Amino acid sequence: MSEAKKPVLEGSAKSDYENYVRTDELLSLQKGPDEWEHRDELLFAVVHQSSELWLKLAISEVGEALSSLKKNDIRIALRMIDRVVLCMRQCHYALDMLEKMSPWDYQQVRRALGHGSGFDSPGFNGVRKNVPLLGKEFTRLLNEAGIDLLTLFLNDRKYEDLYQLAEALLELDERVILWRHRHFKVVERSIGAKVSGTQGTPVEILSKLNTFCFFPELWDIRTTITNYALDQEKNKSAY
Ligand code: HEM
Repeated sequence: MSEAKKPVLEGSAKSDYENYVRTDELLSLQKGPDEWEHRDELLFAVVHQSSELWLKLAISEVGEALSSLKKNDIRIALRMIDRVVLCMRQCHYALDMLEKMSPWDYQQVRRALGHGSGFDSPGFNGVRKNVPLLGKEFTRLLNEAGIDLLTLFLNDRKYEDLYQLAEALLELDERVILWRHRHFKVVERSIGAKVSGTQGTPVEILSKLNTFCFFPELWDIRTTITNYALDQEKNKSAY
C-alpha cells in the first residue's frame, strides 16, 4: 500500500475513510438477514435512521442559529436556518422509499417494532422543542427595532434582514408542515387512516397535528396585509 493510502487516523479500519465515517459501527446498526422478521426491515431502518441523522443536524443548526440571533447576527442565522430547511427536505424525500413497501409487507415489519412510535423520535422532538426558540428571538429583534409585524411587511426593504428572517422562519414552518402531511399520507397508504398505531394512538390524531404550526402570527400576517390592502382600496373609492 502506498504511503498516501495508509490510514493515519485513530481506528482499526483498513482505510481512513472507514475510520473517519466509522462505517464499521454505522453499518452494524441495522439488523442482518438472520434477525429480520421481514427483509424490508432494512428499508425501514435505513429511512428511520437516516431521518434521525438529518434531524440531529437540524437541531444542531437551530442551536447555532439561536446563538447568532442572540448576538443580533441575523445573516449567519439565515444560513443556518437554510440548512435546517434542507434537513427537513431530506426527511421528506426519504419518506418516498417507504411507499415502495407493500402494506402487507409492512405488517410483517411492524411485528418487529414493539411499542416503537414516532412520538418518541428524539430528532423530531428536538425540532419541536427548539424551533419555537427562534421565534422568540425574532420577536425580541422586532421589539428592539420598535416595529410590529405589519410595519415590517409593509416596509420589507427598509428592514431587509428582519424580513428575510421572518421569511426563513415561515419557510421552515412550511417544511415541517409539509413533512407532517407527507408522513400522514405514507401512514395512510401503509396502514390506513382509521386504525391505531403501535402505542394504540388513533391515526386520526396525526391529521389533527397536520393543522399545527410553529409561527401562526407569520401566517396570519398575510391575512392582515390583504385586509389592509382592501381597506386602502375602500378608502380610496370613498373619496
Ligand atoms: C411506513 C412508515 C411509517 C408508519 C406506518 C408510521 C406510523 C406512524 C403512526 C401510526 C404515528 C402516530 C403515533 C403512533 O401511534 O405511533 C406516527 C407518528 C410519528 N412518526 Fe411515523 N410512521 C412511519 C414512518 C416514519 C418516519 C420515516 C419517521 C421519521 C422520523 C416518522 C416519524 C414520526 C413522528 C415524528 C411522529 C409524531 C408525529 C407528530 O408529532 O406530528 N415516521 N407514525
